Order: sequence, then structure tokens, then C-alpha cells
Amino acid sequence: MKDLKSKKAIITGGGRGLGKATAMAFAKEGIDVAITGRNEIALKATVLELESLGVKATYSVFDVGNYEEVKTGIQSIIKTFGTIDILVNNAGIAAFGSFNDMDVKQWSQIIQTNLMGMYYVTKEILPYLIDKNEGDIINVASTAGLNGNANTSAYSASKFAVIGMSESLMKEVRKNNIRVCTLTPSTIASDMSVELGIADKDSQDSVLQPEDFAELVVAGLKLPRRAMLKSAALWSTNP
Ligand SMILES: NC(=O)c1ccc[n+]([C@@H]2O[C@H](COP(=O)([O-])OP(=O)(O)OC[C@H]3O[C@@H](n4cnc5c(N)ncnc54)[C@H](OP(=O)(O)O)[C@@H]3O)[C@@H](O)[C@H]2O)c1
Repeated sequence: MKDLKSKKAIITGGGRGLGKATAMAFAKEGIDVAITGRNEIALKATVLELESLGVKATYSVFDVGNYEEVKTGIQSIIKTFGTIDILVNNAGIAAFGSFNDMDVKQWSQIIQTNLMGMYYVTKEILPYLIDKNEGDIINVASTAGLNGNANTSAYSASKFAVIGMSESLMKEVRKNNIRVCTLTPSTIASDMSVELGIADKDSQDSVLQPEDFAELVVAGLKLPRRAMLKSAALWSTNP
């Protein structure tokens, strides 16, 4: 099992939800963590929690859908950490609505955040991983990226695209000792799923929790470097 202590990670959308749970799980493994998002108050509070676990933590405020902001934000993290070993592309948004009812702006924003945001951040980090001939990229897709459903056209389109982009990247950079993993979790209790009305935060015994997701991410990273978790679907035991 690989020791992750003192690795440096960036987690987009690390101030809450799945991203925050992953940041906390990383800190428990001794990984230094940089978290990003748009809400500085949440990021600052999470950094304090991470530091209390004895690791170095920092944050950067940027909209993943804005390439200029991404470039500046990633540069500031690289300046603080000096290097990066692990990128978790987690930031994302969701909205459901019928094909014609959803307006063009909202539809485009989902693609801009979930797909273009992941592309921009990865584009800025990849050269550092290629240079050191080692790295891990974990891309958060969804079951909605495996199957389309009524009223999920924008979200499904973004997550199908994430899966395609991730698989292409994986095949491109395996030779550089970079493992690209695509995760397709089912519903997990978070602000997103509660706001969409598909999860209830109080049903802890039956609904997946962000900590379950974080455990999967850590388990994948702990595989010996010769082995790569290419993709994984996390489902709840109870339908
Ligand atoms: N929860 C589920 O059931 C579920 C299932 C499958 C997949 N997923 C995926 O898991 C990921 C995390 O979801 P979650 O459930 O944790 O959602 P969440 O609680 O709503 O959190 C979303 C995170 O993304 C960040 N974010 C959103 N838009 C952003 C933007 N334009 N720029 C920068 N950061 C942005 C938010 O940070 P700020 O608020 O600071 O901007 C927040 O940290 C998403 O990619 C989602 O699609 C979730």
C-alpha cells in the first residue's frame, strides 16, 4: 500500500460537499491540500480544519469556468506548494429541467463549469505532472455520465463529455506514469443532491455520504503505482 504522506493535492470545489470530505480524508493521510472554489468564507473555514489535522493547507478563489482566473489561481497554489502530485477535479454544478424549459444560458453554464472547468484546470496542472513523470488525476463524473435521463440533458451531456475526455487523457499520459481515474458516483448527500430533491441529508444509513466517496478516492491512490483505478462507480447498498 502506497504511503501518501507529504504528497501535495489540489481539490477543486474543496470548501464543501464531496470535495471537502476528500480534503479532510487526504489530510488524515498526511497529504498537504490546496482547495479551490468561489466561496472564500467556506474555503477559509475548511483550511483551518485541514491545518488542525497537522498538514499544510491553502486555498485559491476562482471560477473554474473562467480560464484566466484558473491560470492565476493555479499559479498561486504552485507558488505556495512548489509542486503538485494529485489533482481532484471535483467542482461541478447541476440543474434539471426539460430540454425546452431550460434556458440556453443555464445549459451552457453547466457545460462551461463541469466540462470546460475540468479541462482548464487539468491543462494548467498537467505540465507539472509530466515534468516529474508521476501524478494522479481524479475526475468526478456521475452515473448521469453513463445514462441519460429525462430532464438531465445538460448535466448528462457535461458528464458524458467528462468521461470521454478523461479516457482520452488517460490513454495519452499513462506512459508518463500519470494515472487518470474517472469516478461515477450515484446520489450522495450534499448541497447539490439536497437542492435537486434527490437526497435527504438525514437518511445517513441508506444514502451515500461524502465520506464514503472520499474513502474510495484514497483507496485508489493507495494502489501500488503499477496499478491504476481507471474508473469506479459508487452505489448505495439500498436502492
Ligand atoms: N452529490 C451527488 O449526488 C453527486 C453524484 C455524482 C456526482 N457528483 C459530482 O460531484 C461533484 C461535487 O458535488 P457535490 O455533491 O459535492 O456538490 P456541492 O455540494 O454543490 O458542491 C459543489 C462544489 O463545486 C464548487 N463549484 C461549483 N461551481 C464552481 C465554479 N464555477 N467554480 C469553482 N468552483 C465551483 C463549489 O464551490 P463554491 O461554492 O465555493 O464555488 C462546491 O465546492 C460535482 O462534480 C458533482 O457533479 C455529485
